[in-house]
Amino acid sequence: MLKSHKKTQKAAKLASNLVLGIETSCDETAASVIRRQENGRVQVLSSLVASQNEAHAPYGGVVPEIAARAHMQKIDGLIKGAVRAAKINWDDLDAVAATAGPGLIGGVITGLLAAKGLSVSLDIPLIAVNHLEGHALSPRLTQNCPFPYLLLLVSGGHTQLLSVKGVGDFTRLGSTVDDAAGETFDKTAKMMGLSFPGGPALERMAAFGNPNAISLPRPFKGKPHADFSFSGLKTAAARAFDNLGNMCEQGKADIAASFQQAVSDVLCDRTANAMEMFKQNKRAKPDASTDNPDSPDRLVVAGGVAANATIRAGLNNLCADKGFTLIAPPLKYCGDNGAMIALVGAEKLALGQSDRLDVKARPRWPLDIKSAKQNPASGFGKKGPKS
Ligand code: KG4
Ligand code: ZN
Repeated sequence: MLKSHKKTQKAAKLASNLVLGIETSCDETAASVIRRQENGRVQVLSSLVASQNEAHAPYGGVVPEIAARAHMQKIDGLIKGAVRAAKINWDDLDAVAATAGPGLIGGVITGLLAAKGLSVSLDIPLIAVNHLEGHALSPRLTQNCPFPYLLLLVSGGHTQLLSVKGVGDFTRLGSTVDDAAGETFDKTAKMMGLSFPGGPALERMAAFGNPNAISLPRPFKGKPHADFSFSGLKTAAARAFDNLGNMCEQGKADIAASFQQAVSDVLCDRTANAMEMFKQNKRAKPDASTDNPDSPDRLVVAGGVAANATIRAGLNNLCADKGFTLIAPPLKYCGDNGAMIALVGAEKLALGQSDRLDVKARPRWPLDIKSAKQNPASGFGKKGPKS
């Protein structure tokens, strides 16, 4: 429900909305201003991302305390910079949106508190955004991508296949039972002594290798469901690395290329099953307004790992084979950014949704809460289902 902000009624009626988006869930501090027209067209007026890579590199992974401190140091300057770069005044903003989870809680609290402060001082609605929904809707920043679509969400913390029927309307078709794809890239890269962040470093090294040089497993390949498992693949890559002993750069490149190909094959195999499920669900519910059985089938790939060229090529071939259209955000919107958070905020605002000031930051926040509770493939810890 929209609250009684002085701009709220105006915002709901406006032909376009200006929304500030704030992202602080992991190791990127980001802020962006977007304009969303009533017809769904979006203009990104500014998108600033401050990476913390250098601070975490010595540890080979994200250190939560370092991340939280860096977000606190950077957030004010970044927000001011985003508003300045958008060439707007503070008063022009119609709403402020911030990631409220899932993520590293210290960082999430920092961004959400900044958004709450702006909501009060500017008297504009606050929208608490699920970070995963930001990735899920990210292609809609730059292209026409109507609902429904099948989503392969591949980030550092999550690997899931979902049917996306609308804003806030997700059905999980599959999920990882152990590591996420990005996590597997990062851990394998670290094991091979590559620089942080591991995913892009491993892709660069793989460019010089032979993807067929080393035989690696494809976990769950051929199984009828759409779940993922990556831990066996990660262990097999580590064993191949150990077996080669004192290795030349070519040996490393061959392992990197073989590993990357195995991840791509697994993602494509699982996605092929989810495509069947997606089509069946569409046919089974022809009356629902967004479930038009005759609409073209679309696959969206989003999240940091969606930047990987081998994976994009594999999915492209799969889509050509299965009659789907592949939609992927431009590289700058694959990783964490503020524009995708502003977009979810703008889409929710257009639907008359906003949040109270006491909305809480959440370390865990599944997109499909019902499925996550029924079948917590990625664990159901003290803080609730993970995916
Ligand atoms: O979506 P994202 O920026 O942050 C999370 O929400 O987790 O995803 C980060 C993940 C990291 O694991 C990173 O190594 C991976 O995406 N990644 C890649 C590539 N670029 C980023 N993995 C493989 N190939 C890439 N080019
Ligand atoms: Zn992310």
